[in-house]
Amino acid sequence: MDMPSLTPRPVGLLYGGDYNPEQWPERVWEEDVRLMREAGVNLVTVGVFAWAWLEPAPGRYQFGWLDRVLELLRRNEIAVDLATATASPPPWFPHRYPKSLPVDTDGRRLWYGSRQSFCASSPEYRDVALHLVDRLASRYHDHPALAMWHIHNEYGCHNLHCYCDVSAAAFRVWLRNRYGDLGGLNDAWGTAFWSQWYTDWAQVLPPRATTTIGNPAQALDFRRFSSDALLALCTAEREALRQITPGIPATTNLMTGNFFGLDYWRWARVLDFVATDNYLVGTSTAPHVDVAYAADIARSLGRGRPWLLMEHSTSAVNWQPRNLAKPPGMLRRNSLSHVARGSDGALFFQWRASRSGAEKWHSAMLPHAGTDSRVWREVVELGAALKRLAPVASSTVDGQVAVVLDYPSGWAAEGRAQPSVDMGTFDEVRRWYGALWRAGVTADFAPPGAELSRYPVVFVPALYLVSDNDANALASYVDGGGTLLVGPYSGVVDECDRVRPGGYPGAFRDLLGVRIEEFYPMPAGGSVKLSGGSVGHAWRELGRATGAEVLESYVDGPVAGSPAVTRNGRAWYVGTRLDDDGLDQLVAQVLAAAGVAALVADRPPGLEAVRRRHPDGTAYLFLVNHADAPATVAATGTDLLTGADSAGEVTVPPGGVVVLRSSGEEE
Ligand code: GAL
Repeated sequence: MDMPSLTPRPVGLLYGGDYNPEQWPERVWEEDVRLMREAGVNLVTVGVFAWAWLEPAPGRYQFGWLDRVLELLRRNEIAVDLATATASPPPWFPHRYPKSLPVDTDGRRLWYGSRQSFCASSPEYRDVALHLVDRLASRYHDHPALAMWHIHNEYGCHNLHCYCDVSAAAFRVWLRNRYGDLGGLNDAWGTAFWSQWYTDWAQVLPPRATTTIGNPAQALDFRRFSSDALLALCTAEREALRQITPGIPATTNLMTGNFFGLDYWRWARVLDFVATDNYLVGTSTAPHVDVAYAADIARSLGRGRPWLLMEHSTSAVNWQPRNLAKPPGMLRRNSLSHVARGSDGALFFQWRASRSGAEKWHSAMLPHAGTDSRVWREVVELGAALKRLAPVASSTVDGQVAVVLDYPSGWAAEGRAQPSVDMGTFDEVRRWYGALWRAGVTADFAPPGAELSRYPVVFVPALYLVSDNDANALASYVDGGGTLLVGPYSGVVDECDRVRPGGYPGAFRDLLGVRIEEFYPMPAGGSVKLSGGSVGHAWRELGRATGAEVLESYVDGPVAGSPAVTRNGRAWYVGTRLDDDGLDQLVAQVLAAAGVAALVADRPPGLEAVRRRHPDGTAYLFLVNHADAPATVAATGTDLLTGADSAGEVTVPPGGVVVLRSSGEEE
């Protein structure tokens, strides 16, 4: 299905956040709305955790309070992203249907008293949730404040896997659909091993706690099933909404930067536009790159169309061991980096800081301190900035290169009993993305089987598992003139996690012109020197080139002399995890070989540069300076934020942002 673009009713960029009026006496609401107007808020997400207020007892709905909230917002010209409120069933629900509570791998049922306390396969949950959705949609279908639907909230954040008997039955149905019969299942799971041969479907279970390592193919399929089980709920809500409000776009907030538990490529297909939440981790050494990473994944999931930053934080979060406040200016830079990368707005969790509950120490647009506060002043400034950036809305970003990201491959690679725990996928994809960020190149992400011919270079940092079709797609891409760089431990198993025999890297052996016969993972903290002077970590390989040119080989340790970096025409391979410097150099070499240059030449290291463009050629060059020193680059245009013209050169102050509009011809 083709996704329509994001067409919310407010004109320009969206600004606001989660608004939870049910946490406050009604007399506070007037003040909320007055301050929202002061800050330039034009969209709020209402009702995300309001199920208990909407349906206080089974089948008894109360909408009066929500009628009043929506009317107040309408009168103040603030549009609403109305939540379906299904993310946190109220206590009466599990109390009445205890079997709907999720069960962990040890068979422990998890109690209610938090949120997302339900099993994705529970028929009772599905029925009651869909009923609520239907009631909400029927009541508010023509409400003038309704701009979009917010389905559920962060699916799978807390209840990604459930191992209960109901889930077991649903898993069996999913497996039957995938494999047809038990013969197919036994073959796919390799159950000849350790006498795991199944003779009756009733014997097949989720991967519950076992004596020792369970079957990895079973674990992988359970992860696929779990993603699909939640997706089925999202799709059901989406369909229910579409029946009643076909013209109102619906989305759910994904967590593209730090949650890899759902196969978001499949999810994005059912959403009218992609929305994501992006929270920074205090221990990160490059939070600005983390922001860009999550944003570029979100844009790519929506196939380049405008998307929406549904939540981020004005300052500290509450769920890390040490919750660091954002220093002055970071709120603005983070928001505008998302906008630079295609978000048609910047929303926060949440509008007003809570007084009670698990998130009372989470920052908000309106902090506990009230309006006489740094955060509030920055919130008001950001609102004004976003207004000035209104012309940017609905323009798009063109990625210069693609990075392959595959969720099931990562799940399999990060399962148990692998050669090394250091060969994770998702952190490595992030690390390669970091190299591209530092190279100043705008990256898109793509699933492995995608049509990639418009990209001069494709990076495959870690693709342990690949199907024949997807491997062939990458080979055709190179045949068609594309340049490819593949990272270590890729192509080694098929989609059932079965090893591809005959030498590694399996599916990519011929394409890359190398044959690896044995892996030599390194001890913790180990490193290996390469002939070109770079340093590898975690992994080494014993093998030889079968057609490729050897650019670098290992110079010490047990695999000295084996190829480490090779090039087979346009297909490059690196067989170790290069450290950041080495990776930067290799990425630069591959980009240069394919003729890809940084978007803005001679850019100081901390300067982020991304361009959005309208179909008529009008372009917006976002320059975000994350460094402590001013950054000067060659660029021409009018700064939308200040109105200043620059011809030939622009200087971005430390921590500042410039957005240059040009007709596109000056570039
Ligand atoms: C998100 C969630 C919000 C809030 C926020 C806190 O995961 O959608 O409801 O919990 O995190 O950072």
